[in-house]
Amino acid sequence: MEKNVFTFCMLLIATMLFSQEHKVPQLSKDNIKEIIASMTQEEKVFMVMGNFNNEWKKYIGVGSTWQSKKHGISAVLLDDGPAGLRLKPKRENDLKTYYCTAFPTATALAATWNTELIENAGKAIGNEVLEYGSDVLLAPAVNIHRNPLNGRNFEYYSEDPILSGKIGAAMVRGVQSNGVGTSVKHFAANNQESNRKGVNAIISQRALREIYLRSFEIVVKESKPWTIMSSYNRINGFYAAENRDLLKTILRNEWGFNGVVMSDWVSGDDAVAQMKAGNDIIMPGYPTDYAQYHYDELLSALKDNTLDEKTIDQNIERILKLVTITPRFNNYKYSSTPDLKSHAIISQESANEAMVLLKNNGILPLKKAKNIALFGKTSYDFIAGGTGSGEVNYEHAVSLKEGLENGGFKIEKQLENFYMNFVDSVFTNCKTIKKYAVVNHPEIPLHKSEIQKQVNKTDVAIITIGRISGEGYDRDEKDYFGLTDVEKQLISDVCEAFHAANKKVIVVLNIGGVIETNSWKNLPDAILLAWQTGQQGGAAVNEILKGKLNPSGKLPMSYPMTYADVPSSKTFPGVPVINPVNSFYNEGVYVGYRFYDTFKVLTSYEFGFGLSYTNFGYSDIKVSSTTFNGYVDVSVIVKNTGKIPGKEVAQLYLSAPKSKIDKPEKELKGFVKTKLLKPGETQQITFKIDAKLLASFWSGESCWIADKGVYDVFVGSSSKDIRQKTSFDVASDIKVEQLHDAMYPNFAIKDLGTVSKTTLGNRSHFTRHHILYYDFQWYEKQKIE
Ligand code: BGC
Repeated sequence: MEKNVFTFCMLLIATMLFSQEHKVPQLSKDNIKEIIASMTQEEKVFMVMGNFNNEWKKYIGVGSTWQSKKHGISAVLLDDGPAGLRLKPKRENDLKTYYCTAFPTATALAATWNTELIENAGKAIGNEVLEYGSDVLLAPAVNIHRNPLNGRNFEYYSEDPILSGKIGAAMVRGVQSNGVGTSVKHFAANNQESNRKGVNAIISQRALREIYLRSFEIVVKESKPWTIMSSYNRINGFYAAENRDLLKTILRNEWGFNGVVMSDWVSGDDAVAQMKAGNDIIMPGYPTDYAQYHYDELLSALKDNTLDEKTIDQNIERILKLVTITPRFNNYKYSSTPDLKSHAIISQESANEAMVLLKNNGILPLKKAKNIALFGKTSYDFIAGGTGSGEVNYEHAVSLKEGLENGGFKIEKQLENFYMNFVDSVFTNCKTIKKYAVVNHPEIPLHKSEIQKQVNKTDVAIITIGRISGEGYDRDEKDYFGLTDVEKQLISDVCEAFHAANKKVIVVLNIGGVIETNSWKNLPDAILLAWQTGQQGGAAVNEILKGKLNPSGKLPMSYPMTYADVPSSKTFPGVPVINPVNSFYNEGVYVGYRFYDTFKVLTSYEFGFGLSYTNFGYSDIKVSSTTFNGYVDVSVIVKNTGKIPGKEVAQLYLSAPKSKIDKPEKELKGFVKTKLLKPGETQQITFKIDAKLLASFWSGESCWIADKGVYDVFVGSSSKDIRQKTSFDVASDIKVEQLHDAMYPNFAIKDLGTVSKTTLGNRSHFTRHHILYYDFQWYEKQKIE
């Protein structure tokens, strides 16, 4: 059907509906079934599709659900994203500009390891959602950092599912405390951008349950998000949005999720399969070309009964339940004037705690330094966040130069002019988006003689290394992970010149994820991982360098020595390498530190690592019982043994007894960020360990089993810096949860293992027809038998 015919039909329907308005029931919390019964099939199809062409699209919303004036159904407005609300700053016929607060990117938020702080940040973000008239925030995103080159890792929290899940749950609680919703995304196994709309992630059931689904499970169970967004990719053969095992068996039946599932924007293939799988809304809907196709497909399936009307009714029931709890349905009068000043403070508090001090040979905090030689283009155009739907339209971001100047430092003028001229010329010559022109431009080389001139004029050198990434593409090893020759030269020349004069050098990393550090980290005197920490990033770095604040961030992922050490480096992004069709997760559960620790691969900086300006002592570890009886409490005392106040992240790792299946050397099972401890002050911390935390998922049996034997408990300051040890015993195997045999891999896949290799693969019930029905072309290409 042509677009204009479609529009005409829409108008006709709308007019008919409007004229009948008085005859039909109006939506309330109590008459949802009655409303559905009064809908025509055409109306039903509209209800399960998004509406991108709504009346608010000019300034807010990357989409919405349909409204029906006839039934009194208001639209649900949906907006990105993980680092704050992505509002369009300009509105038609309005001279004002509307901004939102840019918070640290998700990875940086996770580096705080502070769930209370994240909940607070969530409250502020949710307040902007509410006050700008939206209903559901399309965030948080809790996919796992499987590989450092994934373009969207900055939108995700961690390589560890427990950390991702707990931080994600805190964010959901915070946002939803405003009476607006969240959409936890991208469900599931969306770990790369290369061919993101088609790639098939082939993952063993165990790795899915323990790693890739686990973060979502924690968020769903602990914070009850209003909605979930299914991901673009396929998992074990089926698109996530068409995956009944994923959306019904696991999400709804096993985890008890009763909200709405929406697709990612233009995903999946078969609209009927999406409905049957329990993907309630197909986004973004009209006016994309797909929408017309989906509309026709759904309507004819209803007419010829290949789609049972009861199925779509169930989807609509969930959508209408969502409608009735939104601010828009309940006539909330939004102000469009959220308190951006107080939110900026919360953004900075989050940035302050996100900073990870990787190296400090005593130079920090800066005591006497006043004059700074500020090297690196990004120092002058500091990166607040990544690109794509994770972006936020903030009014102003504090650059590092500005942050340092506001903090009373003096930036050497000649060097500043050199870089500012460069920045200006990049802006002037930029034909596309200016915002990222400088960071995307290669670093500018600086002659040794220019560096030498700085040595006499300044007290200390700071070099910023910047990296950006975003939705739609992965980065390659050379341009993202590795330092360029110019960057390496800059670090080594500046270090050589300053060290010769007995002056110090600090490197600030303004990056979204992981880069190579091992080859150059011995050169500077200090390295501060400042991430992309939102609009207050430069201000937060200043506080840390000056020592107004004590760094307390810890790495939410490992920093490997080389890219080749990454367990998925050989299989990422899949086969073929360009536009991959299949991505084999051969490393199984050995993602990040689970791999490095078990296979004794050295890292440059380990998971959970981060220095402080003070020291912490750990003592008095106790278990509530040495025999596990439903749960065990582990307590420990953390003491600030240094000279200045600080916060510590106490991390609890468990090592399970040897068993018939592989076990990582140890796994994170709990973490607590202390309050600000004064010198000499102590805090007792208690971790609760339940049976699920002991268990591994046995693919063959489809259950979580906690093996009998001795569990070693490690509590420490990082995954390597273990300070206290104890253990407890499990008398006999515990079958913690019997689940469904769901999401079987459609290809043979061998999980990496230490004790035994489990071969999974094409099972008789996964028939040729099964594969053909869903994906004929892919089947043909791959010649699966
Ligand atoms: C992204 C989602 C986002 C949506 C709406 C998609 O391209 O994958 O994360 O929420 O667009 O902007």
